[in-house]
Amino acid sequence: MKIGLISDIHANRPALAAVLADMPPVDEVVCAGDVVGYNPMPSACVERVQEVASVTVQGNHDRAVENPGRYRANQMAYAGLEYAQSELTDAQRQWLQDLPLTETFGGGDYLLVHSHPENRGEYVYPRNFPELRPQLDDYRGIVLGHTHIQHKATVDDRLIVNPGSVGQSRDGNPHAAYAVLDTETNDVELHRTHYNIDRVHHEIVVEGLPSEVGERLFEGE
Ligand SMILES: [Fe+2]
Repeated sequence: MKIGLISDIHANRPALAAVLADMPPVDEVVCAGDVVGYNPMPSACVERVQEVASVTVQGNHDRAVENPGRYRANQMAYAGLEYAQSELTDAQRQWLQDLPLTETFGGGDYLLVHSHPENRGEYVYPRNFPELRPQLDDYRGIVLGHTHIQHKATVDDRLIVNPGSVGQSRDGNPHAAYAVLDTETNDVELHRTHYNIDRVHHEIVVEGLPSEVGERLFEGE
């Protein structure tokens, strides 16, 4: 079985469209959270993720839409959350609030979380991937997001993968990121694809969001 892995879409509809168009045929798609935040197309992204993803877990931005004030010290995050709060429908906001923090997929063989399987909000960077091994006794692997850094590792036959960020890369490569898991081999292919960053940057300016949010997309940092 082939499973498309997406994460950290962050309201970037052109990036999500590019990823779904570029993705080779898969049996299902799962999403590791942060559907909204930062960029100006939260409603369209929630709608599309609801259509394509069989399983989605809640990211910190998805959760914070109900309370953007928690991010007041981070102007880029705060502005995107306030924007999402005003643009999303009540039903979409409720859907984000009701998302689970942890799920399984692939017949229960794989864990799906946004940040860390036990310590919510913790950033698991590539160098920390081996530290997740104790949580994987009952699983063939884990998929997580949050750092926006695409990386995969195998520890004692357990797969640990961050598919990278669809809508706001921070690993030095500005292209949209995703991955495809092959459950037969328990391995993933990491993918990147172009999207129209100019268009998103333009929308950010038009909608009055901080221009740094758009500039960051070009840098991929
Ligand atoms: Fe994120």
